[in-house]
Amino acid sequence: MAWKLTRDGATVHVLPGNAGIPNSHPEISATDFPAIQSFCEANGVKLIVVGPEAPLAAGVTDYFTGSDIRVFGPSRAGATLESSKVWSKDFMRRHGVATAMSWQYRSDKLDEARAKATELDGQVVVKYDGLAAGKGVYVCSSIDEAQAALDDLQQQHTGWFSFLLEEKLTGPEISIIGVTDGNRVRLLAPSQDHKQLLAGDQGPNTGGMGAYCPVPFCDDNVLAAIRTSIVDPTLSGLQNEQFDFNGFLYFGIMLTPQGPKLLEYNVRLGDPEAEVLLPALESSLLELIEATLNGTLQQTVVRQRRGCYVGVVLASGGYPAAQFPTGFPITGLDQLHPSILAFHGATKRNAEGELVTSGGRVMVLVGHGEELEDAVAHVYREAEKVTFQDVYIRTDIGQRPEPTLASNW
Ligand code: AMP
Ligand code: GLY
Repeated sequence: MAWKLTRDGATVHVLPGNAGIPNSHPEISATDFPAIQSFCEANGVKLIVVGPEAPLAAGVTDYFTGSDIRVFGPSRAGATLESSKVWSKDFMRRHGVATAMSWQYRSDKLDEARAKATELDGQVVVKYDGLAAGKGVYVCSSIDEAQAALDDLQQQHTGWFSFLLEEKLTGPEISIIGVTDGNRVRLLAPSQDHKQLLAGDQGPNTGGMGAYCPVPFCDDNVLAAIRTSIVDPTLSGLQNEQFDFNGFLYFGIMLTPQGPKLLEYNVRLGDPEAEVLLPALESSLLELIEATLNGTLQQTVVRQRRGCYVGVVLASGGYPAAQFPTGFPITGLDQLHPSILAFHGATKRNAEGELVTSGGRVMVLVGHGEELEDAVAHVYREAEKVTFQDVYIRTDIGQRPEPTLASNW
């Protein structure tokens, strides 16, 4: 976002940022609102664009309401669409948004959930209610797996909590992300994440190992079905419940044989979807954000660049386990072809001033091509040049076989 907004003509500071983002301020946390306020006042900042969900769920928008600093991102109440799976499922149901069937339980009703999971032959998805950094969802394929998921849920969370059992859906997943003022939405290109660690969608779930856009099979017919069954009812719901919602709205969708179904909302851009969507966006993001805040989104057109964008994540070996070593020097960035974008995620400078790894998803390299295959070949060729100890790259980003979709939705 900092890269795009800078190209759009804004002067951008990033709190906290990292070693690859100009004007980063690692000493300021994104949830320390008084520190953010002091920073904005000292630097004449008039607009805050929120990246991750935590500051939104903690109420950054509410904190600045009434001040002359504007925030692009929903209020704490709006952020509940992402921060509570139970609440967002109820919202979907109240407003007729197409989604999986589900059953809600409290932690004192685990036995009822176990019985339901057995009745459904273990073909269920167990979802912890709160924010869990991608670790609160268990997709099960047998009764044993479902019971193990419920055991794990019980062990992970002490005290009182809520969770959902959902019917397990099948079909390709896509990410549809828009900019909304709560009344209208302007959609960016359809994109696809690759959440599992290993090629062929195997292994544990991660924050996302790579993404591409646009998605060839997500044509006008598919998009029309998504609008009718998911996007439009969501907007009606936001209006009916009088949410003052502005910001990014992310629809995580599965294209099932029965039509598109919503898996989840996020109230932010996806990562690594953002790294391909923003280079693909020809329009000014700054103008889109200002139009949203000024109530002129209706008159604003979103233009996309031609061709395809593919982003591959360079991850630390051991990710997504709870612990893995970091602090390894990163080399080869200066060898990259000038057309490759390198977006840092978890980098810092060590005491010697070297660029080193500082987390799981270290950076995303993004390549462009006329066709998806060209972009894939280009980015993987270039990715070989960037190295650090135990670097891991999933090898099949943008290479899933094209699915056959039902035509009778
Ligand atoms: P969520 O955080 O709700 O998007 O869930 C994380 C991942 O779990 C999704 O990207 C899907 O791959 C999978 N998932 C979630 N809900 C379902 C469902 N009802 N059926 C099948 N897979 C699901
Ligand atoms: N890429 C999925 C997410 O950001 O939640």
